Amino acid sequence: MISTLIFDKYLETAEQVDPIKCVGHVVKVQGLLIESRGPQAIIGEQCRIEVPKGSGIIQAEVVGLREDIIQLMAYGDIEGIEIGSRVIASGRRLEIPVSKKLLGRVLDCMGRPLDEKGEIASRIHYPATALPPDPLKRRRVTQRIVTGVRAIDGLLSVGRGQRLGIFAGSGVGKSTLLGMVARNTNADVNVVALIGERGREVNDFIAHELGPAGLAKTVLVVSPSNSPPLARLRGAYTATAVAEYFRDQGLDVMLLFDSITRFARAQREIGLAAGEPPATRGYTPSVFDSMPKLLERCGASDKGTITGFYTILVDGDDLDEPVSDTVRGILDGHVVLSRRLAEAFHYPAVDVLGSISRLAPAVTGPATQKAAGYIRRLMAVYNEAEDLINVGAYHQGTNPAIDEAIAKKAAIDSFLIQGVEEKSSIVETLQVMGEIAGIEIPMEEMQTWQKRSMALLTDDSYEDAQDEDGEETPEASGDPEDAEKQTEQRPEPEL
Ligand SMILES: Nc1ncnc2c1ncn2[C@@H]1O[C@H](COP(=O)(O)OP(=O)(O)OP(=O)(O)O)[C@@H](O)[C@H]1O
Ligand SMILES: [Mg+2]
Repeated sequence: MISTLIFDKYLETAEQVDPIKCVGHVVKVQGLLIESRGPQAIIGEQCRIEVPKGSGIIQAEVVGLREDIIQLMAYGDIEGIEIGSRVIASGRRLEIPVSKKLLGRVLDCMGRPLDEKGEIASRIHYPATALPPDPLKRRRVTQRIVTGVRAIDGLLSVGRGQRLGIFAGSGVGKSTLLGMVARNTNADVNVVALIGERGREVNDFIAHELGPAGLAKTVLVVSPSNSPPLARLRGAYTATAVAEYFRDQGLDVMLLFDSITRFARAQREIGLAAGEPPATRGYTPSVFDSMPKLLERCGASDKGTITGFYTILVDGDDLDEPVSDTVRGILDGHVVLSRRLAEAFHYPAVDVLGSISRLAPAVTGPATQKAAGYIRRLMAVYNEAEDLINVGAYHQGTNPAIDEAIAKKAAIDSFLIQGVEEKSSIVETLQVMGEIAGIEIPMEEMQTWQKRSMALLTDDSYEDAQDEDGEETPEASGDPEDAEKQTEQRPEPEL
């Protein structure tokens, strides 16, 4: 009798416990959206859904909250999910294990290796969603970064920490141009984000665009078009977090992102599924909120730089469509690729006159600017008179500017046309440009910054010490507190 009384006490306590604090149960699955009653979770929190009849566990993330219903989306396939499946909250948002061991690796949207080169065990984790660097602590962009592409290095010079968009319709050469930059840039580390693009292109990119030498200094983050929208969305954040890690090491990182349009579409799919109203052209308000949050994380900080090239697929070659328009306003320049040039086999199909690098004047010397200005002017004059020239209505000697533009046309074209495999050093690029313009560009304008970073990569101060488990010890970096600071002092992620 006494024992029953004691038992009742525990029963009473058990009944008072709120059973949905950490575990909930699926109540509805509609399209991409999984709804569960419980657990207690915040937007962006990682959850596991137990599916004994499927793969065992589905990784998901909270994307919405509605009364007592939690709305989730999965990072992968949702096979095996059923009403009543247990949903367990982790209490954590998405974090990526980071270390220099990431170099040469291919990761999925959650930072897990996709290649078969072993686990990336690291004690340092970076949040996939983070705040951009403090605007007042951002270093100014004052030095150029070399892309190895003449049209860009010569006429659209890019600074270390600048962010540019590559705008073009489909099949005009965006991915190929990114590949050329990845292979030829003098940045220390490349982070390549292949978001929502064809899965087939991943191996092509590794084999053709990068090659073994390029891969050694590259981290690829891949969320192909067949992956769920959450995977595509988070792949973008993961790639940015990886770039931020290398920037925090004091390095110059090149973030090559293909494509921001697929990122926006993934956000739109998630927003619509979660019940957001469509706004401009079906894009939900969260799309326009998330784009600046993502793009502003790129750039210079007080430690290192991330130079970003983001491709934008321009719907129907309309540069004013909402994603293009928003991105153009955020970035520090745009490279427009022209279908007309691509059709004429003028590759890379950079429409120089339609493109702009807002920071070019800050990273180039006066002679370079003069030569670039001269070439741009001749191109503009030629374009203006092109119709007359083509129908034979222009007679030489009528207008000296047009005569000069015609005389230099072949030299300018051969300067701009560049084979995929052809690398052009900054010295070669500027010398040719100087010859066309008849201006001697002094050596000091051809210099880039003193490279110190590759040395850093093999330097002990950068080497991550390995503890017995093969994991990094934070004390291993030059500054003993550095690694700790990286996780502790990073601003609270914003979703
Ligand atoms: N520099 C180049 N030299 C020669 N051919 C090129 C060059 N750039 C692109 N091409 C040609 O254009 C095709 C499409 O290029 P790419 O895949 O880079 O375009 P894209 O803009 O990324 O296309 P999508 O919008 O479909 O992703 C290539 O298969 C190739 O034939
Ligand atoms: Mg492409």
